Amino acid sequence: MKNRVSMGTMMKRVCATSAVTMAALLFSSAVAMPVLFGQMRNGSSRHAPSNAQLASPAIEKRVEVLLKQMTLEEKLGQLVQYSDSGYDGEAQTAAEAAAAPGKNPVAKDKVDAMQLVSTGRLGSMLNTVGQARTNALQHAAVEKSRLHIPLMFGADIIHGYKTVYPIPLGLAATFDPGLVTALGHISATEARTGGVDWFYSPMVDISRDPRWGRTQEGAGEDAYLGAAMARAYIRGYQGDDLSLPTSVAASVKHFAAYGAAEAGREYNTTDMSESRLQQDYLPPYKAAVEAGAATIMSAFNPLNGVPASANRYLLQDVLRDRWGFDGFVVSDYTAVMELRNHGIALDAATAARKAITAGVDVDMMSHYYDAELPALVKSGKVPMSVIDEAVRRVLRVKFALGLFEHPYAEGPEVTTAVAEHRPLVRKAAEEAIVLLKNDSSPSERPLLPLSESIKKIALIGPLADNSGEMTGSWGGDRRDPDVVTVKDALEARAKKNGATVVYAKGTEILGDSETGFAEAVDAAKQADVAVLALGESSEMSGEAGSRAHLDLPGNQEKLLEAVAATGRPVVLLVFSGRPLALTWAAQHVPALMETWFPGTEAGSAIVDLLYGDVAPSGKLPMSFPRAVGQEPLYYNHFPTGRPPIGLDLTKAPNFDSRFFSRYIDVPNAALFPFGYGLSYTQFAYQGVTVSRNAIPFDEANHNDARNLMTVTATVRNTGNREGTEVVQCYVRNLGASLEQPVRSLEGFERVTLKPGESKQVSFKLGFPELSFYDNTGRAVIEQTDYTVWVGGSSEAAEHAEFRIVP
Ligand code: BGC
Repeated sequence: MKNRVSMGTMMKRVCATSAVTMAALLFSSAVAMPVLFGQMRNGSSRHAPSNAQLASPAIEKRVEVLLKQMTLEEKLGQLVQYSDSGYDGEAQTAAEAAAAPGKNPVAKDKVDAMQLVSTGRLGSMLNTVGQARTNALQHAAVEKSRLHIPLMFGADIIHGYKTVYPIPLGLAATFDPGLVTALGHISATEARTGGVDWFYSPMVDISRDPRWGRTQEGAGEDAYLGAAMARAYIRGYQGDDLSLPTSVAASVKHFAAYGAAEAGREYNTTDMSESRLQQDYLPPYKAAVEAGAATIMSAFNPLNGVPASANRYLLQDVLRDRWGFDGFVVSDYTAVMELRNHGIALDAATAARKAITAGVDVDMMSHYYDAELPALVKSGKVPMSVIDEAVRRVLRVKFALGLFEHPYAEGPEVTTAVAEHRPLVRKAAEEAIVLLKNDSSPSERPLLPLSESIKKIALIGPLADNSGEMTGSWGGDRRDPDVVTVKDALEARAKKNGATVVYAKGTEILGDSETGFAEAVDAAKQADVAVLALGESSEMSGEAGSRAHLDLPGNQEKLLEAVAATGRPVVLLVFSGRPLALTWAAQHVPALMETWFPGTEAGSAIVDLLYGDVAPSGKLPMSFPRAVGQEPLYYNHFPTGRPPIGLDLTKAPNFDSRFFSRYIDVPNAALFPFGYGLSYTQFAYQGVTVSRNAIPFDEANHNDARNLMTVTATVRNTGNREGTEVVQCYVRNLGASLEQPVRSLEGFERVTLKPGESKQVSFKLGFPELSFYDNTGRAVIEQTDYTVWVGGSSEAAEHAEFRIVP
């Protein structure tokens, strides 16, 4: 895959202390020089800074001193980014595209990064990883280039560097932001040793359509959960101080609304009302900016007709003017060039001009800024002030990262999964996995956890012994041998019980040969229970992994049917980067677990759950459909004029039940709804109460009204073992001037309870939770009625009412 990072190799640290000291001296002495502060930051007084470190006066002075010394070529150098695998493209014009559809950008010669760096014409590298290469390039930047400006090394470290944790969609299923912060921190510490100081993560795009392969890289369909996860990643990556050797700069992507690609097709169009944009898609980006994100990546997609990478409304009005973003914006890969394919630029110069004036500071891989901007600046078509501002933004982040003082990767390089990080990564996988079904059939007790008295287990399927597929499509710089497979872990655990595992692959992930079926069926017949590990390959989701079908790929469902036909109890483990339509399995298989792609500790975590050493606690961050035709399917949809309330949607409609908002061939509801997930114990909810029934409008109508009322409910563990429940709070505005969702998540809390134990859980509701966005992008609150539910999924039933009154 084009963006996979190269393997880092051990090398002696490049020693360039003299140059580093010189550079540090040069710039610290510069601190004392007088500067005209007020002119530096266009409009920065308008809004509190999003990141105090980037907005620090000390950094500001150093930026100004340096900027004054830079030639135009050196300035543009800071605004371009290349990769070592070197590719710069040439886009089609709209006319060429019409004449020769399907022609792709033409790959040109490899760039000579070392040469560009030495001459100050390259500011950052993409997916170059490992001390040897990063330090060599950095050495050229700080020793050889005229102004000694260090490089930034950005990489797609999305869910772990060497020690890999579950894909972000799986992490969202934990509903555990503290855990996500801790994981982000360990990946930052690992990656810094390999020279990486900038992660192209988190991807905070909300997606309501699992056909889109990149759903695996985000937090799913809900903006509230997405915002909580976005904050958690930023804290984990950036810590309190970007300049620490354990922090990296985050790049929040893909700004904006990339996850709403029509029909779930990658790189496709998005088009939506302002209200929907603000309410359902922007909150996670905003949360990330408020948490201090240092950089943002502009998206590939057009939004309402304007490509995100030339969208001044998004990049200036929303991001900088409203949210006060202080960092810099990098384009997505060749997104500047692609403005021509979008048909909004007839030539490269227009594309470069549109992108930089809209607010894209760094051009990733297009080679347009360095090629086109010199002439555009000379002709006055792009003012020098625009270039200067973009350069300032980049330099601020470099100073804040401490790169001028510590440009090199230092210390022993992390080249394999780190033993001390494995327990956290294992815990993450345990919390991420969602138990979807656990029937008693055929015995009295639920099939899971597996009985300790089981003597023979059949382990079947193409993902049962597959280290390469456990880490997902962005596996960082991981090594397959570090991964614990299901087979490794199950054999070890079974042995402790004196049990044996009979393994049969059965089939390939994608394929139609049934030659392995007989062996698999035979294994099941010999065993007390059959555990099937089925699903997608990691490359079937992720970038450019859109699917039009959401079933188990190849002939895996056929294999499942054949094994189930033996009558042996079946546990199905599903590996996937998205919700799949598991309709047959949900009807015929007693135990079903969604495992996503769990990472380095995949097998250990799965086996902990199978045997009940740990009780499942994951909850779905996306609705699982019954059929692909239901997509986009999301719990927080708008009401319709003809809701099919009270109808039996499993029956084909007759005249009386037909003219409703419904399908004639499948129920509307998800197979497994948002927020749903079972444990090995049960939880009951009681007594949802509100602290008051009426809130005066004048009191509510303030942006900063944070505690207008408290919702309280009691949750009780009614089963016979300890377990963790994600208590969720949903709100509905029943009568606004714009239609509002049938319910929206406005709070959650993980609660661990012993058998019989109960706990009161409270959620505070304020302006952010009770307001909505109108179509001018304004958050408003109105006099109206609300319902609030507390429970264990988006189908929670216990509720209370309140209203906002005159
Ligand atoms: C992806 C980004 C990624 C970038 C750099 C693009 O194709 O959309 O998410 O960060 O490549 O590898």
